[in-house]
Amino acid sequence: MKDRTCYYENPIMPNTPVSVRRRSNPSSKPSSSKSSRRRAQPRSLSIAVIAGDGIGPDVTSAARRVLEKAGARFHLRFVFCEFDWGSDHYFRHGRMMPPNALELLAPSDAILLGAVGHPDIPDNITLNGLLLPIRRGFDQYANVRPAVLYPGVTSPLAGRGPGDIDMVVVRENTEGEYAQVGGFVHHYAPEEVAVQASVFTRRGTERIIRFAFDLARRRRRKSRVTSVTKSNAQGFSMVLWDRTFQSVANEFPDISVESLLVDAAAMNFVRRPESFDVVVASNLFGDILSDLSAIVTGSIGLAASANLDPTGRFPSLFEPVHGSAPDIAGKGIANPMAAMLSASMMLEHLGLEEAARTLESAVLIVLAGGKLRTPDLGGDSTTADVTEAVLNALA
Ligand SMILES: NC(=O)c1ccc[n+]([C@@H]2O[C@H](COP(=O)([O-])OP(=O)(O)OC[C@H]3O[C@@H](n4cnc5c(N)ncnc54)[C@H](O)[C@@H]3O)[C@@H](O)[C@H]2O)c1
Repeated sequence: MKDRTCYYENPIMPNTPVSVRRRSNPSSKPSSSKSSRRRAQPRSLSIAVIAGDGIGPDVTSAARRVLEKAGARFHLRFVFCEFDWGSDHYFRHGRMMPPNALELLAPSDAILLGAVGHPDIPDNITLNGLLLPIRRGFDQYANVRPAVLYPGVTSPLAGRGPGDIDMVVVRENTEGEYAQVGGFVHHYAPEEVAVQASVFTRRGTERIIRFAFDLARRRRRKSRVTSVTKSNAQGFSMVLWDRTFQSVANEFPDISVESLLVDAAAMNFVRRPESFDVVVASNLFGDILSDLSAIVTGSIGLAASANLDPTGRFPSLFEPVHGSAPDIAGKGIANPMAAMLSASMMLEHLGLEEAARTLESAVLIVLAGGKLRTPDLGGDSTTADVTEAVLNALA
């Protein structure tokens, strides 16, 4: 079974197959004495690409092109290893990815994902067959989803302009409501019972909340963390969440805090989005709220995300928040910017801040220009038009 292709996509060695190597130090900064001795060689980064379904291949292809262009300015060589996993793989082999998928991905410095989901396959199979096992298996416990109202973008909310909304939703990514613990009794019978348990561990809760506080400190914006809870109705898991939030907050006296019930948080994302800085939420609550934060900042086609293993033991995964968008798949009009901004987050995670900012700025230049925009932003440009414009902005 051939499900991987790796190529040097580099003008010096075009299309030379390479073997997958083991990662040495995935999140190392590029300034060690060893690396300066080897300055003549470009820094090589092995990126696993799972383009996936629907608009996934279009947006990941665009992200790869802008990564290469930005990388060339910073002496970086990307080795892209493509994995043709997803719904077509499911139709051929009865599973979304092979049993040794994590082993194949493990040597990469990072993973770039498009989206998975197909109208002819139940969503629980596509999600549980690919994305969730990667997030859990690689302990990518922090799902980071920034939402910024950029210049040139109109919010559906009245009276909000560029920079007014600048928040990050930090979502717990390995347990909670998506732990897949449960089962059916009397399956398909009239008396059928479904049980789905949430799993909240003290360790899992504490580490994601601590991550959110650290991020609020690093961002140097409003120095504020909002906890999303539902402890009025969920008297065990969310009570543990609240207690943990309080105890971690005590370690960060310089960060202000608030705690909102998830329903109030949803309302306030619309009513006063400018008040949020870092928002920390469980797997389910963070998933839902980050679609809301995406749309109040213009479009889900701009919403980037990172699935981080902050310890660097495993590769982290970067993907747009959106799904496979079957309604526009194949039309060439998907907004590639969320995938590009996710690629920028990947560069930042790999310690390449300047390259990350350069790529992000190129996207923002095109947005601010206001001429080229895909239909989700009210324009009539294609994915290819927008990609060319970002490439030009990187020139
Ligand atoms: N991480 C993932 O892979 C992921 C995330 C969400 C949904 N899904 C899957 O994707 C499939 C479709 O789900 P959905 O319709 O609920 O969500 P979706 O994000 O795919 O689409 C929602 C709406 O947003 C639009 N949209 C999404 N991305 C866009 C982009 N880049 N440019 C322009 N418009 C864009 C779509 O056209 C659609 O109208 C389902 O099978 C679902 O399970 C996958």
